[in-house]
Amino acid sequence: MARTALYGSKEVDPLLVLQTKVMILFYGTVTIVLVLGIPAAALLSNAAEKVKYTLDLAAVEGMDVAAATTAGGGGSTVISPAFNLTLRVENPRTFRPWCLDRGDVVVSYSGVALAWGRVPGFCVQKRSTAKLTVVPWGKNVHLSQELRERFVSELQEGTAKVYVEMKLHYYANFCMTAFSPSTGMVGISQELTLGGRDE
Ligand SMILES: *[C@@H]1O[C@H](CO)[C@@H](O)[C@H](O)[C@H]1NC(C)=O
Repeated sequence: MARTALYGSKEVDPLLVLQTKVMILFYGTVTIVLVLGIPAAALLSNAAEKVKYTLDLAAVEGMDVAAATTAGGGGSTVISPAFNLTLRVENPRTFRPWCLDRGDVVVSYSGVALAWGRVPGFCVQKRSTAKLTVVPWGKNVHLSQELRERFVSELQEGTAKVYVEMKLHYYANFCMTAFSPSTGMVGISQELTLGGRDE
């Protein structure tokens, strides 16, 4: 009991009290920033994920498979196609533009690459839509007899489809780089029907 009385009567160092208060204030602030900052960062990255990509086929060249030359021996068909693609990028983000660095595009039919090319980098302003034309092409691509026959019949039925795959890199699209990745890759893939307009 004597001990308690001793401690109770001890003088409190005002500097220590101030130090403790400052510490509490500091850690309190850090906690509040973390508690509010992490959901805010998550919200920003969620908004980034809502950026919408749409691919359209504006024109096709060199896919006149029926009239294409046949390479000797295996009976494979040789084509040099080009696909005029329109990429639409819709950025719903309220505060930030959405920028993509350059990337690559490949157009394939039934697993066979027909055309490929580079995609230039571009930015979409906040709350707007940007359009980009890319024309991947291929030279002397061989199609097996089986694929050629399948393609010709699908074209007649109007069901011929090519698969477009784009890989685009991005960087510094977030303002809170401490919480979200500032670089990454966007994969855009879509099946496009060749409407039989083979010009
Ligand atoms: C792609 O198609 C669009 C629309 O038909 C046309 O304006 C543009 O010139 C074409 N681009 C190329 C490189 O063929």
